[in-house]
Amino acid sequence: MSFTLIEAHAPVRLYRSKLFVPGSRPSLFEKAAAGPADVVCLDLEDAVAPSDKDAARANIVSALNEVDWRGKTITVRINGLDTDFCYRDVIALVEKGGERLDAIMIPKVGTAADVYAIDMLVTQASSFVGRRKRIGLEVIIETVLGLTNIDAIAASSKRLESLHFGSADYAASQRMRTTNIGGGNADYVMLTDKHPAQPRERHWNDLWHYPLFRMVQAARAHGLMAIDGPFGDYGDADGFNAQAMRTAILGCEGKWAIHPSQVALANAIYTPPEKEFERAEAILAAMADAQAKGLGAVALNGVLIDAASIRQAQTIVTQMTMIRERTRI
Ligand code: COA
Ligand code: MG
Repeated sequence: MSFTLIEAHAPVRLYRSKLFVPGSRPSLFEKAAAGPADVVCLDLEDAVAPSDKDAARANIVSALNEVDWRGKTITVRINGLDTDFCYRDVIALVEKGGERLDAIMIPKVGTAADVYAIDMLVTQASSFVGRRKRIGLEVIIETVLGLTNIDAIAASSKRLESLHFGSADYAASQRMRTTNIGGGNADYVMLTDKHPAQPRERHWNDLWHYPLFRMVQAARAHGLMAIDGPFGDYGDADGFNAQAMRTAILGCEGKWAIHPSQVALANAIYTPPEKEFERAEAILAAMADAQAKGLGAVALNGVLIDAASIRQAQTIVTQMTMIRERTRI
């Protein structure tokens, strides 16, 4: 281990699915609160038309005070720092939103100073109203500037809990020639080599691999959670599952749901398989036994396990414990 230790910033939260609900559709709030999403995000940004921003902000402030959100994590996505909605969003949420709000999500973050500015507003407004619970910050990486400055952004604030990848805005920012929100692109392919007897095959590549990989790496290096963003075609469960499985393997803890039908899919994919959980428990038991006998590395079913296996196993067991508690709520 390096002498520099990575401190976990984020409180331990279950974050398999994050359901977005436009602030301008308050009739959906109770449904979101009653559903199975781990996290609900009430949106003030792109799902709300400019003419509805003030009404949406008032709806969200009421809902934070009045709706029973059960054991869910509740976040609100504010408008970007390039708008004059932004400071009013922060002040209204912190001063009037009650103690239930867990975190504020900042879209289109480009530099560490963007997060610093919101941290300052949240800190001043929290102190003014004597807020007891600390409000966390979440950042969406969805511009080329944000991806370029990602390490500084990930280190920008003690309030920061998670980084999220937004594919549609990212693609627009880089002028990628695609209109997909997540998922594949049939023209982004490699051809197999020419062969006299066989037709050449087209192998699809993953357009989103680099920014997602980079984001997970930066998040983990700074003790933050890494969350995959939206998959636009909510009628395509297979496409959603394939995207979610890739990002679960890369290290993401969860994914956004832009329609309630995507929540159960995300919960299933980001829950460690039962077999992994059983193996994790067996590893912890075997290592406890080995340590009692003064041994460092031992074999479990013919495979080496050591101190690194304990760390991997503990992550899985902590997550499964939270999932079991959540399903009891
Ligand atoms: N939260 C909670 N419930 C929702 C919901 C949401 N985001 N979206 C739909 N529902 C409910 C509907 O009210 C409906 O309930 P009912 O069966 O009791 O009538 C049911 O789920 C099925 O909804 P459906 O008719 O298929 O969807 P819709 O046409 O009303 O809305 C969207 C589709 C995509 C516009 C809507 O899901 C939505 O606004 N999603 C969030 C978009 C967003 O915030 N984007 C920003 C982040 S990328
Ligand atoms: Mg966006």
